[in-house]
Amino acid sequence: MNQNWIPVGYLLAAISFILALKLMKSPVTARHGNWLAAGGMFIAIALTFFDEGIARENFGWIIGAILVGAALSILPSRSVPMTGMPQMVALLNGLGGGAVALVSLVEFIRQSSIGADWPIVPLVTTVLSAIIGCISFAGSLIAFGKLQEVLPSRAIVFPGQKAVNLVLLASVAALAVLIVAGKPLVVLFAALVVVSLIVGVSIVIPIGGADMPVVISLLNSFTGTAAGLAGFVLANTALLIGGGLVGASGLILTIEMCRAMNRSLENVIFGAFGAQSAAAGSLAEGKTVRNYSVEDAAIIFSNADSVIIVPGYGMAVAQAQHVLKELMTKLQARGIDVKFAIHPVAGRMPGHMNVLLAEADVPYELLYDLDDINTMFPETDVALVVGANDVVNPAARSDPSSQIYGMPILDVDKAKTCIVIKRSMNTGFAGIENELFYLPNTVMVFGDAKGVIAKLNTAIDSY
Ligand code: TAP
Repeated sequence: MNQNWIPVGYLLAAISFILALKLMKSPVTARHGNWLAAGGMFIAIALTFFDEGIARENFGWIIGAILVGAALSILPSRSVPMTGMPQMVALLNGLGGGAVALVSLVEFIRQSSIGADWPIVPLVTTVLSAIIGCISFAGSLIAFGKLQEVLPSRAIVFPGQKAVNLVLLASVAALAVLIVAGKPLVVLFAALVVVSLIVGVSIVIPIGGADMPVVISLLNSFTGTAAGLAGFVLANTALLIGGGLVGASGLILTIEMCRAMNRSLENVIFGAFGAQSAAAGSLAEGKTVRNYSVEDAAIIFSNADSVIIVPGYGMAVAQAQHVLKELMTKLQARGIDVKFAIHPVAGRMPGHMNVLLAEADVPYELLYDLDDINTMFPETDVALVVGANDVVNPAARSDPSSQIYGMPILDVDKAKTCIVIKRSMNTGFAGIENELFYLPNTVMVFGDAKGVIAKLNTAIDSY
């Protein structure tokens, strides 16, 4: 094959990646985006086989590795529950980072065995991609372990931890300088790999399991950056552009998540969020909670003209999206206007609620973003909160001492009646009490979201 066609094909692949990202912006087109990106990736991989720089005798190994990787990933990716998606992403991301680090290591050993002098740019990019790839690999595996609860999900902290981390980072920098400015010895590179792996572990263990989605997104950005650098090392434009896109989009997602929680990235990484909860019962003093039965709730719906449903993490845990869709259909059949309000960080991963509701075939036009829906709550008869807590906590608006003060929330308390479905008075992710549950226009229906809504669906028929 004429070698000039390869960069043209890589350009096509890069264009498809960019268009795919655009399509992934909306749940309606996200599936097409996935297919387009996969198509682009297929072109990039296929063309690489025609690159004369790739040794033909290694084709068997490469194809074998692709087949083994594909076989190992198909079953878990099809069977993983939606609540297990963050750890799946962490694992796959970690493997990507590890692959980049291996490429750098192999390339370094190969160049050293040739013995020729390395130009500075490939040498620096090889060193950087090894460092970032190793940090991403080890950090992502720890994140996976925490989310899968193979490791303790709480923040693991010990005295002098910051000093230890600083010494480790300084060692990485010193080794990198020795390799680049001194002699590029394999033994130094191996030491760099080992210390970078330790850094990956040490920066993720002090972060609590609940902050892991943000960390995973950041590590995802690291992997993309490392892959982009590996593109330099291997002189592969598709890898360079693809890696750059992953690096940039991962960083944007990380920043967006932090913004939606009104927290800085520094606070997520070093803040041990959720460690200090409000004193139990402090909010409850002198206040009552209206504990309603499913039948009482059904009566409220029978008198409503408009309902806004607010799903949260509890809907994902209960897998209540299908019964919720059934409730939507029943309410609509009675002429009630039904909308869904989606908070950007409801659940535990970006787009968590959108994906679950799409799985239950809830029409996308009924899903409203925070900014669009908040003005509608005061005109709404019922706000139905399904397993959401922090994203509807009015303390974010009114209590400057609250951990979540300043985080944009869904104003469900402004609806005429707010019905909250959850199992207990327990706190959510942030570990803080919610004054919403004590407000005079709020009623609580305690129980597992799926069970309660299934019963509600039956009860509604009687009124
Ligand atoms: P949370 O504040 O975590 O509250 C979820 C509530 O669901 C809990 O209070 C729990 O109460 C209830 N619940 C759990 N299982 C349930 C079940 N089977 N049936 C009914 N209720 C159930 O969730 P949220 O309001 O969605 O807020 C998300 C939080 O995660 C935010 O603080 C956000 O900052 C954080 N976060 C989100 C992301 C992304 S990207 N989404 C990333 C990192 C952090 P009971 O135990 O009483 O049932």
